[in-house]
Amino acid sequence: MNFDFIRHDVKEQKAKSRYRQLVCNSTASQGKEIVVNGKSYLNFSSNDYLGLNNHVEINKALQEGADKFGVCASSSSLVTGYHYAHQALEDDICQWLNKPKCLLFSSGFAANLALFQALGKNEESHFYLDKLSHASMIDGAYHSKARVKRFNHNNIDHLTKLLNNSDEGATDSPSKPPSKLIASEGVFSMDGCQAKVLELAQVAKSHQAWLYLDDAHSIGVIGNEGQGSNYFAEIDITMATMGKAIGTSGAFLTCDEDLHEYLVNFSRHYIYSTAISPAIAWATRKSIALIQKEHWRREKISELSALFSELLNPEIELVITQSSIHAIIIGDEKKALNISDELKKQGIWLTAIRPPTVATNSSRLRVTICANHNTKDIKYLAECINKAIA
Ligand SMILES: Cc1ncc(COP(=O)(O)O)c(C=O)c1O
Repeated sequence: MNFDFIRHDVKEQKAKSRYRQLVCNSTASQGKEIVVNGKSYLNFSSNDYLGLNNHVEINKALQEGADKFGVCASSSSLVTGYHYAHQALEDDICQWLNKPKCLLFSSGFAANLALFQALGKNEESHFYLDKLSHASMIDGAYHSKARVKRFNHNNIDHLTKLLNNSDEGATDSPSKPPSKLIASEGVFSMDGCQAKVLELAQVAKSHQAWLYLDDAHSIGVIGNEGQGSNYFAEIDITMATMGKAIGTSGAFLTCDEDLHEYLVNFSRHYIYSTAISPAIAWATRKSIALIQKEHWRREKISELSALFSELLNPEIELVITQSSIHAIIIGDEKKALNISDELKKQGIWLTAIRPPTVATNSSRLRVTICANHNTKDIKYLAECINKAIA
């Protein structure tokens, strides 16, 4: 058979309890509930951390954006696809994060590929990535021409050692020192813990490196106005997707004027891709305005997260974090799937996260607590998990 690995690999995936399947959510209004095959579930797997998806004001802005600019950009940004809606959104983001420049991408995955590919022009670029960095960062880095090193998760000593080695190597060589980029997620997607942002920024400064943070899971949730990692330190380049707490779609990258100019001229993902929907850009402006002023959404996540950790059986290993994400490490794939199925019977949707998304023997339930959950939901969740894991 042509491409016979296709059947073989899928069969193997099933045998390893790693098989993945699409499930169609037929809920009319996305919220804390989802409907699958006619049955309703309380959703604890959504990335709609602030509960902004389907917000009436954002929907209204989407309609207004569609009426003013159209749904489709109709070309790439450099041809005729760059609308006032995009420019206004970029300006809002620059003000929010206090950054000179911003560039929009169709997705966070594309933005990560774009950045690493653009900066990894040749072997004189050295990338230092946290070992738990997202697949799109890893793919971006390894598909570039840069030299890539991975430091142990959140381990500043290991990072410093790698940087020192490379600095010493550079002193012995007559050629110019390498250009260095330290990269990490701001909040890690699979366990919700935060990067040591301040320390990373200090290390970057002392080694004349740039710091790149993927704030997919921090934006909106972390910081007094939801600025994410930029609330804590000066970050050279930030990427954040708009498809999680922001509740729309696409991604942005903030940086200085020089890098912005370079990406506009050389980033293949930016140049050869249709600009994001101007209607969505317009709706995103409204979402960001709500994120900045509605502090109660972040406060609710903290309160409900504290309640959840208090109600869970103390024997259950829960990773406590400041974010919406709380991981319960189960270990074995099959066991994680069984617990997830048991919870479904109780009307709770909690996807089991398995390898290769996480390391072997670290399959987990990734609980996301969102601003549209309430105390009753959390009590019920804790009660069901306590029973399912007992
Ligand atoms: C850390 C991280 N970076 C990037 C992405 C990709 O973002 P998007 O969904 O906008 O492609 C994700 C999404 O899953 C993510 O978790």
